[in-house]
Amino acid sequence: MSGNKDDGGWKKFVWDSDKGEFMGRTGGSWFKITLFYVVFFGCLAGVFVGTIQVMLLTLNDFKPTWQDRVAPPGLSHTPKLDKAEVSYSIKGIETYLPFTKTLREFVSQYDDSKQLDASKFENCPAEPADYKERGTLDDNAGVRKACRFSRTLLGPCSGLEDETFGFKDGKPCVIVKLNRIVNFRPRPPSSNDSIPEEAWPKVQPNLIPLFCTNKREEDADKIGEIKYYGINGGFPLQYYPYYGKRLHPHYLQPLVAVQFTNLTQNMELRIECKVFGDNIDYNEKDRYQGRFDLKIQINSV
Ligand SMILES: *[C@@H]1O[C@H](CO)[C@@H](O)[C@H](O)[C@H]1NC(C)=O
Ligand SMILES: *[C@@H]1O[C@H](CO)[C@@H](O)[C@H](O)[C@H]1NC(C)=O
Repeated sequence: MSGNKDDGGWKKFVWDSDKGEFMGRTGGSWFKITLFYVVFFGCLAGVFVGTIQVMLLTLNDFKPTWQDRVAPPGLSHTPKLDKAEVSYSIKGIETYLPFTKTLREFVSQYDDSKQLDASKFENCPAEPADYKERGTLDDNAGVRKACRFSRTLLGPCSGLEDETFGFKDGKPCVIVKLNRIVNFRPRPPSSNDSIPEEAWPKVQPNLIPLFCTNKREEDADKIGEIKYYGINGGFPLQYYPYYGKRLHPHYLQPLVAVQFTNLTQNMELRIECKVFGDNIDYNEKDRYQGRFDLKIQINSV
């Protein structure tokens, strides 16, 4: 269209009454174009709906069909507020209240009083033991029992005696869990090769060990002793496999509490915690796959 055309020319282009054309095309040709698009998009919608229907047919209520997270479980920690940072002042209760509040809410899920029902919970070995098989995912056996996990196992990090989880004494606790993956059986490390030497003593049968250490070389002499609570300071196999939300609604993940008992104050320290196992991987891009970093700073004033 040339710019010189006057208004009449433009109007004539849109609707040419002489030729009975709308934007240069006759009514019949507009009908064909419309019909083409209706049929085209109709087919597209049909293919879309059909694909979803077929997908839904192949999905089983209980067993995840599409699961891309079988091998590498995430490791997560509480408290985790912004930027995986634990920074507070010993003198200021209000500076650590958000952390202790998060911890309190988290461990309350593990209250003994919530695990009384014998139709939902059962006692499992107190020491690391083999996987607790409860049938297969599709054997119609219904809801499975969950192993009890008492918060008293977390000792000084249980929040039962010290409501501040060590924060008030400059010995903060962090509670760690492995994220749930349906039907996943974590395998303990079969050799010490890929494990830092300091973590070797933590390797034992039927246990996925958790080990935390300084992330930066220069913090090596500043993080002090780290204590571990839970079942032998790791994730014991009797809590696996997990059968999923439908079949295992009362499932409790085993916990490990990590207490930093002698951190150097008034400086930022970087800690890395890692789990070790033959089918546990780490990923440069996913900072929570099998490990996590934590920044801690405790101020004395
Ligand atoms: C790993 O090291 C620990 C401590 O030295 C030892 O007790 C354990 O047997 C070793 N495990 C393997 C699989 O070599
Ligand atoms: C705590 O760490 C300091 C050095 O940072 C050390 O001198 C002291 O002995 C440690 N205390 C305990 C109880 O380990």
